[in-house]
This record gives sequence, structure tokens and C-alpha cells, in this order.
Amino acid sequence: MAVIKVRNSGKVIEGVEQVGAFLEEQGVLYEHWDMSKLPQELHEKFNLSDEDKQQILTAFDQDIRSLAERRGYVNWDVIALSDTTPNLEELLKKFEQVHTHTDDEVRVITAGHGIFIVKGEGEIGYFDIELEAGDVISVPEHTPHFFTLMEDRQVVAVRLFIDTDGWVAHPYEEKEQQI
Ligand SMILES: [Fe+2]
Repeated sequence: MAVIKVRNSGKVIEGVEQVGAFLEEQGVLYEHWDMSKLPQELHEKFNLSDEDKQQILTAFDQDIRSLAERRGYVNWDVIALSDTTPNLEELLKKFEQVHTHTDDEVRVITAGHGIFIVKGEGEIGYFDIELEAGDVISVPEHTPHFFTLMEDRQVVAVRLFIDTDGWVAHPYEEKEQQI
């Protein structure tokens, strides 16, 4: 289950209900999907063939279509990052820049871990959402955020899009960036 860490206050939020309530207040969609639907060999596989990726999409087809229908997504795919990814360091440098999108950004973690660092509403400042397999989040449009890996340095995620143009990253800058 996801864990929230608020950077300014050091506050940690855990537990499905508390995490759900906090993220709802911040306009961030949060769900947890049943990972037992995923074939066993894909729980710890990070170097994926096209066939593996298709298997992941097939395993969660119903959940994906339900989420897509509710929120207007029309395309989806699978992304995998690990030390076997060429240029992982370069990719991470790019991902670790604060940016916004004109559409919301949706990720379903199916293996490994990832962190979204999101700029909260009002005084709260930036908070980390640490994600594990089964966690589903959507960062709202125009909300500054960035993504990085956790200690295991590996993740597999399903991405859902309204429009591929809406997913272009626009750099975000503020005078005193406290992240
Ligand atoms: Fe993003």
C-alpha cells in the first residue's frame, strides 16, 4: 500500500483509509488493484518482452477498461525501468525534474516501486507518494510533480492516456524550490 511522506513537516501517512483520504483532499486518484491477477513470473520481471507487456495488459484488462471509462482514458501501455534499461541514469535525470502536464498522469504499479513527488495544495508543500505493486494513482493536470525510483531501482507500470499530447512534460519552476 502507498505511504505518504510530507517533506516540510516530516509527517508520514500510512494505511489505506488515511492515505486515501489525504490523496482525495489533494485531488489525487488512489486505488489498489488485486495483483494476484498477474501471472507469477511477472511479479519480479523487469526486462519485459512485448509479449510480457501484453500479458500484463490482458491480466488487468477489466480494471483498465473500468478506469478508462470513468476518467476518459483512450490509450494505455506498459513501461519498465531497471538497471537493464539502457540510459537509466539519463532517464531518471529527466524524470526527476519538476514538471506539469495538461492531462492527468496515471500509473498502475505492477512490480517494483516508484515515488511520485507532488506539490500539494496550499501550505502543505511537496509530499512523496511511495508506491508498490497494486497501487494506482493519477496526478491531476497542471499539478507540479516528478517521479523517481526507490532503493530497488526497478518498476513496471501501466500508463493510461487521454491524449498523448497531454502527456508532454512542461518544466515547472518556482523562486524558492523546496523539494
Ligand atoms: Fe509527469
